[in-house]
Amino acid sequence: MTLLNDCTARFLMCRPEHFAVSYTINPWMNPKRWARDAGAHAAAEREWTALHRKLVELGAVVELVPPAAGLPDLVFTANAAFVLDRQALLARFRHPQRQREEAHFEAAFRALQARGLIDAVRKLPEGLVLEGAGDCVWDGRRNLFWMGYGPRSDAAAACAVEDAFAREVVALELADERFYHMDTALAPLPGGEVMYLPSAFTAAGNAAIRERVAPQARIEIAIEDGRRFAANAVGLGETLIMSGCGRRLRAELDERGYDVVSTPLSSFLRSGGSAFCLTLRLDRRSVPLAKAHNVAAA
Ligand code: ARG
Repeated sequence: MTLLNDCTARFLMCRPEHFAVSYTINPWMNPKRWARDAGAHAAAEREWTALHRKLVELGAVVELVPPAAGLPDLVFTANAAFVLDRQALLARFRHPQRQREEAHFEAAFRALQARGLIDAVRKLPEGLVLEGAGDCVWDGRRNLFWMGYGPRSDAAAACAVEDAFAREVVALELADERFYHMDTALAPLPGGEVMYLPSAFTAAGNAAIRERVAPQARIEIAIEDGRRFAANAVGLGETLIMSGCGRRLRAELDERGYDVVSTPLSSFLRSGGSAFCLTLRLDRRSVPLAKAHNVAAA
């Protein structure tokens, strides 16, 4: 398997100091159950630390957003923005509970810019909602974005992403409220496969995926793995980090040359998020279009 060069992977994360399930904006969140569980916060700290340690062990650099009281979902940095070619497009959130994170994330991106880690920080046009890499996932092999829309992001945001990055966007409508962000149901893998949960997408969405991804590159996951958030994986070289993975899926990924590392993130599943949601890649690069066309023509 030929892999993209992931040796300088850089992620953005946020310590779960103020993480809690304190409101309900997706079907996984149950604040009462969270409040009854005295050990919940400590478990979240342990799980996050293990994920962070794993990324560092694999050679990634992790930048940190300062945690903030009253912003329990700030840990889900995938929703902060989308970053490609050193340009950040800041997110705008659907729900008021998370809109309060916007200014905080903006300050974090300005700080990254001041340190020279990115070149520009952009905003979406007024009135458009798009929850960052939660719904906008870069496929380095196909040089395009997969964008989920419906529960959290507007279909019309696809044009804004195309304008901002001058790269193609394939917009997919989401069909299951449990998989309300596309990153909970689809992951382009470093070797060019697309791992996804077909039932999370409409018929048109499934057709768009099949049109772009050859049968041998499709890894359709079962609902049991969907519920474990197996598609919410972080790919780094041949390593795939995820919270949980069923035996069949693990065998298939293994056969394709991946090393599946499961690191339990059940505290975050209680908020509707897992490994990919807790990280945001800052160093993704697209292929210049002229070069991409030559490759396609070759
Ligand atoms: N509780 C958060 C929310 O509902 C979880 C976000 C998960 N993030 C993700 N990228 N899927 O917004």
